[in-house]
Amino acid sequence: MYFVANWKMFGDLRTLNLLDKVIKFSKTNKKHKFKIVYCPPNTLIRPLSRRLKKTKIEVGAQNCHHSYEYGAHTGQVNSSMLKNVGAKYVILGHSENRQLGETDNLINLKIKSAIKSGLKIIFCIGETLKERRTKKTNQVLKRQIEKGLKSIKNKSKIIIAYEPVWSIGTGVIPKEAALIQAISFIKSRFVKKYPKILYGGSVNANNADKLKKIPNIDGFLIGGASQSPKKFIDIIQKTII
Ligand code: 13P
Repeated sequence: MYFVANWKMFGDLRTLNLLDKVIKFSKTNKKHKFKIVYCPPNTLIRPLSRRLKKTKIEVGAQNCHHSYEYGAHTGQVNSSMLKNVGAKYVILGHSENRQLGETDNLINLKIKSAIKSGLKIIFCIGETLKERRTKKTNQVLKRQIEKGLKSIKNKSKIIIAYEPVWSIGTGVIPKEAALIQAISFIKSRFVKKYPKILYGGSVNANNADKLKKIPNIDGFLIGGASQSPKKFIDIIQKTII
């Protein structure tokens, strides 16, 4: 099981002290198989990866520019620069960035560049509330997968994160049947082997044991609750123990 912490725009150098508890937890729970990935803001990738050096916890970024080369792109960072400071993963296609104008085509270019850099990609897809209400969920997921992964043959570095937009930060999670349906639809879009599939959206210690029972969920992408070591550890414990 994967437990990916998406810190979004949260954290400074002092915040890293919070991680001591999670490091201790991961070291003392070796008999259970699980993977923790922290995706802090870019400012913390280097210090965090140094701090996690002797642990199994890995570090990822939350986005990158689509160009693999250096260039005149003020304020941007590309995938190889993220790799260089310790990132092993990058979250791409998050709805908070899609809402700012990221298109499926742009996300496709970003994924290709991240693959070239040797990063693993946490590729976010998910429908809005309006799309769900108008029964467009499958259509949206299909489009996001097809366009986002267009002409990418080797998908071994891709992990899908199904994050219904209406579930992010709202405390509302999909009904069991709807989630089973969405996950199996995602699976059906892959011809041979389908990638690992994470669920994201209001995951907490109270709903984790319900969510873990959904077939083919390989872990969680956790926003708000990942900022608290206690809440994050509680989710892991509820899921694996
Ligand atoms: P919350 O867990 O805060 O709902 O955020 C989910 C998310 O967007 C993770 O990428």
